[in-house]
Amino acid sequence: KPLDGFSEVQHEVVMLSLNNVFTEEELAAFDKRLHDLSDSSNTFDYIAEPKLDGLAVSLLYENGELVSAATRGDGRSGEDITQNIRTIDSIPLRLRGDDWPQRLEVRGEVYMPKAGFDEMNRKQRELGEKEFVNPRNAAAGSLRQLDPKLTAKRPLEMYCYALGLAEGIEMPATHYDVLQRLKGWGVRVCPEIKRVSGIQGCVEYYAAIGKQRDQLPYDIDGVVYKLDLLALQQRVGFVSRAPRWAIAHKFPAQEELTLVEGIEFQVGRTGAITPVARLKPVFVGGVTVSNATLHNMDEVERKDVRAGDTVIVRRAGDVIPEVVSVIESRRPKNTVKPTLPEQCPVCGSQITRIEDEAVARCTGGLFCSAQRKEAIKHFASRRAMDIEGLGDKLVDQLIEKALIEHVDDLFKLKAENVAELERMAEKSAENLINALEKSKQTTLDRFIYSLGIREVGDATARGLAQHYGKLDNLMQAEPESLEAVSDVGPIVAKNVHGFFEQPHNQEVIKSLKEAGLIWEEFEPQVHDDSDEIDLPLAGNTYVLTGSLETMTRDQAKEKLQQLGAKVTGSVSKKTTAVIAGEKAGSKLTKAEKLGVEVLDEVALALLLEDR
Ligand code: IVH
Repeated sequence: KPLDGFSEVQHEVVMLSLNNVFTEEELAAFDKRLHDLSDSSNTFDYIAEPKLDGLAVSLLYENGELVSAATRGDGRSGEDITQNIRTIDSIPLRLRGDDWPQRLEVRGEVYMPKAGFDEMNRKQRELGEKEFVNPRNAAAGSLRQLDPKLTAKRPLEMYCYALGLAEGIEMPATHYDVLQRLKGWGVRVCPEIKRVSGIQGCVEYYAAIGKQRDQLPYDIDGVVYKLDLLALQQRVGFVSRAPRWAIAHKFPAQEELTLVEGIEFQVGRTGAITPVARLKPVFVGGVTVSNATLHNMDEVERKDVRAGDTVIVRRAGDVIPEVVSVIESRRPKNTVKPTLPEQCPVCGSQITRIEDEAVARCTGGLFCSAQRKEAIKHFASRRAMDIEGLGDKLVDQLIEKALIEHVDDLFKLKAENVAELERMAEKSAENLINALEKSKQTTLDRFIYSLGIREVGDATARGLAQHYGKLDNLMQAEPESLEAVSDVGPIVAKNVHGFFEQPHNQEVIKSLKEAGLIWEEFEPQVHDDSDEIDLPLAGNTYVLTGSLETMTRDQAKEKLQQLGAKVTGSVSKKTTAVIAGEKAGSKLTKAEKLGVEVLDEVALALLLEDR
């Protein structure tokens, strides 16, 4: 039966994404980093796999039966698409054999084969209906159908490439053997997957698959290499959203020629002014592109892009389209170099450009409706408050019609006012009000991220939430205390402190709380009291200075923090020790003056060893 909407599923094990490389040098750097991290000089075995261009999905089997399926979503939670997944023929509803774990979660890519895609578009053409842009979009659209009967008509397939969970049995020690086990249970695994030796093997595989690419029955946008030994994977771990033990080696981006119809300036969430080339629409890298970012005025100058120019446009996979270069021989007469406007094209405030900074900014702040729009879009976005149905176009209208000014006004919206907007009706307005209501129950890290503090991404927001436990603690934190949080350096600390100092921001936060936004709070871990926690370095405060040889300062900071230590940016009498690398400067001098212990890199290694 059709659903009213998809419900949310929490992933028991986060669904990671992949970092990309485009060149052999970058690939070699990836391999070297793994050798450094694992302290090994052996040639690694990698499993090389086609990078399928579809959607990541997770399947949960209990006692051999498919019980649920979910999209990746933001990696922590996704949408429950069980009904739709059950319509895909190549996904077993029941596992083969009887030696499977009691609970098994497998992950893979749902995609639409090229032939099925072409056939579907042929039918659309016959019916005079809109065609699908590419197989990836068609697959995504098919999985998002509320009516599984529609999904059932779409030619979808799935290949699995990873294990999420396997409870109750011992699984093999290598990724390759895990895939073989999955195959034995009837789970579909891509036949092109191979074990290769070292980066040499990776590069050969990449070349071979590249040659085969057009003949493969499905779209791929590169290949993926994964460390084969699972113990090694565990040892190197992951950072933020991607594992360190795997990498995507993307095919080069596609390029096309087109015409620049004009150059305009866009205003971002933080007021950054971005020059954008408006292009004669061109099909490149699987989609039609009509805008390309020119990043900043330095870039415009360097590439010398002008309205009227013929340019090479490039687009790779999920990357934003960009102008590669201008074909100067095709430049018409009388073109002019674009100049940075003095006033914001949206609010008319002055534009400033700090010396040495590439970015120009509108000084209008929250007076500028473009900045407010972007702030609200960010607030509503998936990794922030995740307000379903509050898309960009709707936000534009809400601001333009003055129905809202700041994020807190969202929660004062009335269905009858929303219903009057373009492309809205009673039902969709009601859905929005319900989605707003639902979003009120959130988490502290999401809330912090949603505020849109400059340079506070979701990982940093999580770090802040974990460190402070309560919003009030964070709002009162001094820059020095903020710097003790993983991921937070002096600039971010200043941004966070500055944000919460602004009376306007305090008011918006107060109003959001009054509107009923809630999240769980907890007492932060007491790092100073070594009796309360058993981490070996709890209660100690370190300052890192100078450059280290065996790791970066951030890595050292992370390791120290994992052991319970605090790492701050400035030396005081309370500092346990200063860890000084090469070229240490004023912090070292200060430590000597205050009589604070100074450790070198070897001492640091001993401190971290075996803990
Ligand atoms: S592994 C732990 N293997 O690429 C790593 N991903 O850019 C999880 N993808 O979200 C991903 N083919 O949707 C992996 N053979 C493959 C893949 C693959 C396609 C997709 C997947 C992932 C995205 C990351």
